Amino acid sequence: MKANDFKQGLKTKYIGQNIVYVEEVDSTNNLAKKSEAKHGTVFIADRQTKGKGRLGREWVSENDGLWMSVCLTENIPSSNVSSITLICGIAVCRALNRLCNINTMIKWPNDIVINGKKLTGILVEAVTEAGSVTKVVAGIGINVSADNFPGELKAKATSLLIETGNTYKREDVARAVFEELEHYYNRFIHGGMEDILREYESLCANIGKQIAIIKGEEEINGFARGISENGGLVVEINGELTEICSGEVSVRGIYGYV
Ligand code: BTN
Repeated sequence: MKANDFKQGLKTKYIGQNIVYVEEVDSTNNLAKKSEAKHGTVFIADRQTKGKGRLGREWVSENDGLWMSVCLTENIPSSNVSSITLICGIAVCRALNRLCNINTMIKWPNDIVINGKKLTGILVEAVTEAGSVTKVVAGIGINVSADNFPGELKAKATSLLIETGNTYKREDVARAVFEELEHYYNRFIHGGMEDILREYESLCANIGKQIAIIKGEEEINGFARGISENGGLVVEINGELTEICSGEVSVRGIYGYV
């Protein structure tokens, strides 16, 4: 596979127009953060030796997935980088549904889930200089052709192959994500977050459900009620609405992973 294979027929102006493709790296997010790459450049690896997940977790990255990081350096919102997290969630969800004719949803903040299992993880990291954000790296890990998962992942993780019975080319999956991500990023630049938020809510699997909010050893039960303007999850706990931020907590369904 070559960098150019990802660009065949690509209909974007900036996302994916520059591709850095490597066979192996510790983490594509680390590579992207260290680079001087321009807006829209995507770093893709066959394998990651230290793939990173949210909240310091490991992200297992063998040869069977699409592991990539998109560099965004223009029009970054100064006060609310977490809106980019939501944009990535919608874009990946829409891309997979369109390409594979499936019905994935988002588990706040940005796991892409289907049939109660996780298909994709997204880790957005900000690079700051002199106190302001100069670059956002959106790391996206999509399980493409894994036919099973080890240990406790078996109950929680799934792949495009498992869900559809089809082996998708990573290039095709990547192109679909680039196109949707550019569409939603442009919409966000021109129109702000308002209508994107409503669309996010409509794709969000946990809204209206009873959830457990987990912060370290602490676990609180509540009902997910909506998404705030800051991209936080609005939760009803003991009859009171409160907003929780994605940086601190993980959320799971009371009756299963979602
Ligand atoms: C999560 O669900 O916890 C987020 C997982 C993010 C994984 C992707 S794979 C490409 C990029 N590089 C990394 O090290 N992590 C992200």
